Amino acid sequence: MAESAELILDGKSYSFPVTEGTEHEKAIDIAKLRDQTGYITIDSGYKNTGATKSAITFLDGEEGILRYRGYPIEQLAEQSSFLEVAYLLIYGTLPTQAELDNFSHQITKHTLVHEDVRKIFDGFPSAAHPMAILSSLICSLTAFYPESVSPDLSKEEIDLNVIRLMAKISTIAAWTYKNNMGHPLNYPRNDLDYCSNFLYMMFSFPTEKYEIDPRIVSALNKLLILHADHEQNCSTSTVRLVGSANASLYGSVSAGINALWGPLHGGANQEVLEMLQAIQKDGGDTSKFIAKAKDKNDPFRLMGFGHRVYKNFDPRAKIIKKAADDVLSALGINDPLLKIAQELEQAALTDEYFIERKLYPNVDFYSGIIYRAIGIPTEMFTVMFALGRLPGWIAQWKEMRENKEPIGRPRQVYTGELERDYVGIEQR
Ligand code: MLT
Repeated sequence: MAESAELILDGKSYSFPVTEGTEHEKAIDIAKLRDQTGYITIDSGYKNTGATKSAITFLDGEEGILRYRGYPIEQLAEQSSFLEVAYLLIYGTLPTQAELDNFSHQITKHTLVHEDVRKIFDGFPSAAHPMAILSSLICSLTAFYPESVSPDLSKEEIDLNVIRLMAKISTIAAWTYKNNMGHPLNYPRNDLDYCSNFLYMMFSFPTEKYEIDPRIVSALNKLLILHADHEQNCSTSTVRLVGSANASLYGSVSAGINALWGPLHGGANQEVLEMLQAIQKDGGDTSKFIAKAKDKNDPFRLMGFGHRVYKNFDPRAKIIKKAADDVLSALGINDPLLKIAQELEQAALTDEYFIERKLYPNVDFYSGIIYRAIGIPTEMFTVMFALGRLPGWIAQWKEMRENKEPIGRPRQVYTGELERDYVGIEQR
C-alpha cells in the first residue's frame, strides 16, 4: 500500500500522499492541503520545503555526499573538465568525445559579445563591484536576444541560449575585472580552451605576452567544477522562481547572480579572505580570534565555517583543501594566510565548542586562498563562483521549463492590521 501521511485538524483527519526520491528521500505531498483543509504550511527559510523534484544534483548533508547526475563530486573534480561537467549537468549524461567537441566548439564560436554590450561598460563607475556589472550585463543580453522571452521555446532555441550564455559570461566576467582596473578589454581567443581563454582575457595585456600556466588552468577547472551545482540553494531557487514566470534564461540567471552576491551566499569566500587578512594584520594570533568567536558578547564571527545543509563536513571543502595545498606548493607560493587558515581549521576541528555546533570549514574557507594564489583579486571571488555555478543554474532552469512547472507563488500568513477606514490627512 502506498505510504501516506495523516493530518488531524480540528478533529478531522486528512490523508496526504508520500512521495519518494530515487535516493529514498521522502516528502509529504501537500499540493491539495489548502484546497482540502483551508490551511497552508509555514516554513521560514524553506528548511523543510521541497520546492521541486529534480534529477540534477543529489546532496546528503548528514553523510557529506554530493553527486552531479549520480557522479560523485570527488571523481568529477579529479577526472573531468569544467565543460564536460557543464554538459553533464545541462544534458544529463556524460558526453561522448564528439558531443563534447561540438559543445566546446559551439561555446567557443559565441564568446564574442555585441559591441553595444562593450559600450554599456562606459556607463558604470570604474569602482563598481564586478557583480553589479555582471548581473546587469547578463540581464542586458535579453535586450540583444528578445526572442528569448517566450513560453514556447523550441529545444534548438533553448540550446542556443544555453550556448550563448555559457560563452558570453566568461568574456563579460573578465571584462568586469579589466574595467575595474582601467585596463584595455581583451577579446576572447578561440584557439584556447574555456578556462585558458578566461585567464587570458583576465590577465593578458596588449603590451606583453601572457603565458598560460597549465597548473592554474587545472586548478581553475577544479574550482569551477566544485561550484557547478548545489541543488536548491538560494541563487538556484531564485533562478527557478524567476524562470517559472517564463522570464528569459538571461534574466533568470541575472537574478541568481544578484542572490549569489549576498554575503550570506556567494559573497562568503570574499569575507573569509578579508577575515584572514584582518587576523594577519592584527599579528596573526589565531587563538585570540578563536576565543573571540566563542564569546557571545563579541561581534566577531568566524567566516567559512559550518553549512546550512552539511551537518558533518562539506565534501567540496575536503577536495578544495587538498587543491589549495597542491596549487600553492606547485606554484611555490608561501602564503601566510594559508598558515592562519590551517591554524583556525585545526583549532575548530579539535575544539568542543566548534564540534558541538558542527562548525567545520566549508567550501568558501579554502577557495579564496586558491583564487588569491592564481592572481584573482578578492572582489572577483563571487564572480568566479558565478562562473562556476552557471551550468547548474542553466540545468535547473532548463529542467523547470521542460517539466512545465507552474509559476512559483508562495503564500503567507498575514500579520498586519485588520480592516480600518481611511483617515484624511488633516485628522491624523
Ligand atoms: C552553495 O554552494 O550554493 C552554497 O554552499 C550554499 C548552499 O548550498 O546553500
